[in-house]
Amino acid sequence: MSYSYQIRSLEQYQAVYQQSVQDPEGFWEGIAKTFQWHKKWDKVLDWDFTGPDIKWFQGAKLNITENCLDRHLAERANQPAIIWEPNDPEDHYRVLTYKELHFKVCQFANVLKNNGVKKGDRICIYMPMVPELAIAVLACARLGAIHSVVFGGFSAQSIADRIQDAQCSLVITADGGYRGNKEIPLKNVIDDALVRCPSVTRVIVLTRTRMAVSMIKGRDVWWEDEIKKIETQGNPDCPAEVMDAEDTLFILYTSGSTGKPKGVVHTCAGYMVFTNYTFVNTFQYQRGDLHFCTADIGWITGHSYIVYGPLSAGATTVMFEGIPTWPDAGRFWDVVDKFKISILYTAPTAIRSLMGFGLDYVKGKDLGSLRILGTVGEPINEEAWHWYHEHIGKGRCPVVDTWWQTETGGILISNLAGVTPQKPAHATLPLPGVQPILVDEKGEEIHGNSVSGNLCIRFPWPSIIRTTYGDHERCRVNYFATYPGLYFTGDGALRDQDGNYRITGRVDDVLNVSGHRIGTAEIENAINMHTGVVESAVVGYPHDIKGQGIYAYVIFSSSHVDENLSRRDIIQTVARIIGPIAKPDKIQFVSGLPKTRSGKIMRRILRKIAEGETQNLGDTSTLLDPSVVEEIKNGKV
Ligand code: WTA
Repeated sequence: MSYSYQIRSLEQYQAVYQQSVQDPEGFWEGIAKTFQWHKKWDKVLDWDFTGPDIKWFQGAKLNITENCLDRHLAERANQPAIIWEPNDPEDHYRVLTYKELHFKVCQFANVLKNNGVKKGDRICIYMPMVPELAIAVLACARLGAIHSVVFGGFSAQSIADRIQDAQCSLVITADGGYRGNKEIPLKNVIDDALVRCPSVTRVIVLTRTRMAVSMIKGRDVWWEDEIKKIETQGNPDCPAEVMDAEDTLFILYTSGSTGKPKGVVHTCAGYMVFTNYTFVNTFQYQRGDLHFCTADIGWITGHSYIVYGPLSAGATTVMFEGIPTWPDAGRFWDVVDKFKISILYTAPTAIRSLMGFGLDYVKGKDLGSLRILGTVGEPINEEAWHWYHEHIGKGRCPVVDTWWQTETGGILISNLAGVTPQKPAHATLPLPGVQPILVDEKGEEIHGNSVSGNLCIRFPWPSIIRTTYGDHERCRVNYFATYPGLYFTGDGALRDQDGNYRITGRVDDVLNVSGHRIGTAEIENAINMHTGVVESAVVGYPHDIKGQGIYAYVIFSSSHVDENLSRRDIIQTVARIIGPIAKPDKIQFVSGLPKTRSGKIMRRILRKIAEGETQNLGDTSTLLDPSVVEEIKNGKV
C-alpha cells in the first residue's frame, strides 16, 4: 500500500490544489481508487446544497473495516495497530497488532450479532478510553450497525436525550473508568439514563475498574461472558457486511446554537476516503511513525484521527486512557518518550494548561522521537504555539494547526507538515479538494486578501455532513440556509495578505470551552431547571486556559439564604443535566437582563461586560430598561 496521493512539496500542493478545483471528481476518484471496494462507484458526486442532498461514490459497495483491518493483514499483520497507555503509568500498557485487532473486532461483532444486532441498528457506546472502545466502534461498523459514541463526561440526562433521539437498541459501556485519581461510575450513569429509554433492551458491560454495579437480569450482560460464548462456538470470523457508499456509518451528537444537540450523520465511503487522505497529508505520515492523538473517542477528533484515519492508512495509533496532568504535568512527555511517538496531535487548551505548570515538567524528557506536532479544536494563541514549537518540538518539528468540525468529518484547513508554510495561530491553507470562501453579513463573497468575514465552503468534500439524524430540515436550516448555495461553518475568519486563514472563533451562540463545543441555549436550559431560577443568559469570556469560560447571568426568584450556596446548587444542576464540562465558571445574580422592546436579550452587552469591557457598550437606549445595564456592570463577578 502506498499513498500515491501524498503531497510532498509546495509546488505539488499548488498544482494538486488547482486540479482539485478544476476537476474535483477526477481528483477524488484518483484517491478513492486506492481503497478496497466490493464494487466501484457509478458516479463520483451528485450534490445540491439547497436540500441539501449530497452523495459521494454512489453505487459503490464497501465495508470500512475491511479497509482499516483486513487489507493490512497481508503486509502488516504483526505491526501494532493500537498501542494503549493506561491511566496509571505503573499498569501494563497493551499492544494490539493488526492481526489481533482484526480478530477481536470480528469476535466482538459476533457478540453483537448474538445479541440481536443487525445492519442499521443504532448502538450507543459510553466507555472509557480503553482498546475495547475502538473494538466496539469497529465491530459496529463491521456489521453495518450505526454507532453513536457519547463522551464519558456527559450526564445521564444527556445520554438519555441522545439514546432517545437515535432510538438505540443496545448500549455498550463499562463498569467504570479511570481518569487521573478519579473513578468514574459509567454503568451507574447508564442505569440512570436508561430509566427513560425503553428502546434499549440490552447493555453489554466491560470490566475495567470492577467497582460495584447493578446488573439487571434479562437486560445487562458482561462483555467477558459474551466473548466466552463466542469462543465456545469456535468460529471467530465475521464477514463484513457489504455497505452502500451512502449508508450511515455513525451518528455523533454535537451542540448548535439552539436547543438540544443534534446528531451529525456521516456515511461510509466519503468519510473513509477523506479521513485517510487528510491523515496521510496533514501529518505527512510515514511508515513506522507512531501517531498519538490525545483526544477522546467521544469527540470527532478521536473518531477520525485515533480510529478511522490512522487505521485505514495502516498506521500505529496510540490511545491514552488518562489525563495530561496525572500523576503530574509531564505525563504526555513521558508517553512520548516511552513509545517514541513521532506525531503528537493535541488541543490548545492542553498546551496552555501544561505551559502553566512551567518547564520543570519538560526538562529531562528526551522528546527526540517527535517529528510532527498538531493542534485542533479551538484557535491557538501565539504564545501557546511558540511554547509548543520551541519546548516540545525543540524548534525542529512543524506544527500543523488543523481547522475542522464535527460536521466536516475531517481536516479542511491546515498547513501540511513541513510541506506548506506554517504561521503561528493560522490554520493557513485549505487542503486540496476544499474550497473555502469568506462572505459578509449579506452573503456576498469577500474577494482579495487582508480581509475578514464569515467562513463558508462552496463545494462539497467527501465527508461533509449528510443530515442531522431524524431531522433533515434542521441540517438545512443550520448549515445551508444562512447563505444559499454555501455550507456555513458558524466560524469567523481572517485571510491575511498571503491568503492564509486564521479562524477567529464562532460567530453564533456556540461556546468553545477547553475545545468542547457547548451551546449557550443548552446551558441556559440547564440552569433554568433549578427551582430558584427565573431566567438566565449565558455568554463566553476569554479564559487563560480554557480558551473560553462560561459566564452566567441569573435572575433568582427569592432572596438567597447564601449566594454561594445558590451558586453551588446551580452548578450542580448543570452538571446533572449536561455534564461537568458545562459548569459555569462565573455566576452573577441580577434583577433583570438587558432586553430589546421585543424581548430579545442583548447578548452583545452581556458579552462585553463579561469580558470586562464596561466602557463602550454601544447604544443602550433601545433597551426596555436601560438602568439594568448599570446594575449588571456594578455587580460583575
Ligand atoms: C473550532 C473539532 C480555530 C471552530 C474538530 C469549529 C478551531 C469548532 C480549530 C468545531 C482550529 C476547531 N482553529 N478554531 N484549528 N479547530 N476549531 O465540532 O470554532 O468539536 O467550528 O470539532 O472548533 O468543534 P468540533
